[in-house]
Amino acid sequence: MSDVKKNTDKKTLADIYSHLPDQPSEKTLAEVDYQARHWSSPVKGPLKPGTQEHKKAMADMFRETFNPYKPSVIPWPELDPETLHRITSLPIWDIAVQTEGKARLRMAAYADMLDDPDVKDAISRNAWEENRHKEVLSRLVEFYKIPMAPEPPYKEPRDTEWAYLVTGFSECWDSFFAFGLFALAERAGLFPMELIETFEPVMQEECRHILLFANWLAYHRAVMPFWKRPWFEMRVIGVLFFLLYERMSLVRSFDDQGIEHTQDNNFTVTGAQSMTDQNVDFVELMELCLREDERRFSGYDPRLVRPKMAPMAARAAIKAVKFWRKLRGKNQEENAEAVSA
Ligand SMILES: [Fe+2]
Ligand SMILES: [Fe+2]
Repeated sequence: MSDVKKNTDKKTLADIYSHLPDQPSEKTLAEVDYQARHWSSPVKGPLKPGTQEHKKAMADMFRETFNPYKPSVIPWPELDPETLHRITSLPIWDIAVQTEGKARLRMAAYADMLDDPDVKDAISRNAWEENRHKEVLSRLVEFYKIPMAPEPPYKEPRDTEWAYLVTGFSECWDSFFAFGLFALAERAGLFPMELIETFEPVMQEECRHILLFANWLAYHRAVMPFWKRPWFEMRVIGVLFFLLYERMSLVRSFDDQGIEHTQDNNFTVTGAQSMTDQNVDFVELMELCLREDERRFSGYDPRLVRPKMAPMAARAAIKAVKFWRKLRGKNQEENAEAVSA
């Protein structure tokens, strides 16, 4: 890839940012929001991963569903002390900001080593959007004066493909649970509507990101020489184990005042109780995640590949828990009968 081509790509992305509207009208906002959630390829027939049509559809979907909101003009609502405390004490802010920063770097690094203009464009845009997420979060943190640990330096990954896989799979898992948690928070009404509305496009963007990742993965597998496939699949398994290990640990760091920050790497799974004052039943929460996942993907071309792993795991977990509850219910009934006999 020549430097000239690289510069042109960078200029295109910079262009997007410099053209974001400051004060879009309500009508423009509604149109943009609709376009970000609905997309279909005009191509007739199947979109088979590995074909030009599928690759182009993947890149077009990502580019044409772009939402041009601008983090610098987000009106952050004033909060009452109780809500403010609820938000500032969530154990996620350091990790959320750093995750977006890492995602940007890893996606940009992966995009940089690609030659295919469609895939390169889509993943570069994804990196750009991660940076915008970081900006949204940084502005929130600043506005509500949330104490933060200093950000560690963001290092270029040594194994670019591995780092991209880690970020992609991690987004697939986190987004699936975050969709449910977000709906739970919206229903419970513990957070002001303005904040929910601010994060709604961010949530939908994550849905587009994982849609892109699932299609990139299908494309990457389809065009890969067959002899490379076993090693790649072993790396995928390695990534999944790495994520499992990472999610089982809490992250501890210290801020400028020496105050310890304990962050939950697995908040999207463990954080339900912070979103509502009602008791959250595991099965109901998983069913909510599944419904939200379905709803958020419903507007995109059904011929594009969907991320399947987290929904499949959730369905299996629901079945297992229901079976366990039935078994336990039976045992309790038998015990009660034995006591009364
Ligand atoms: Fe993000
Ligand atoms: Fe993302």
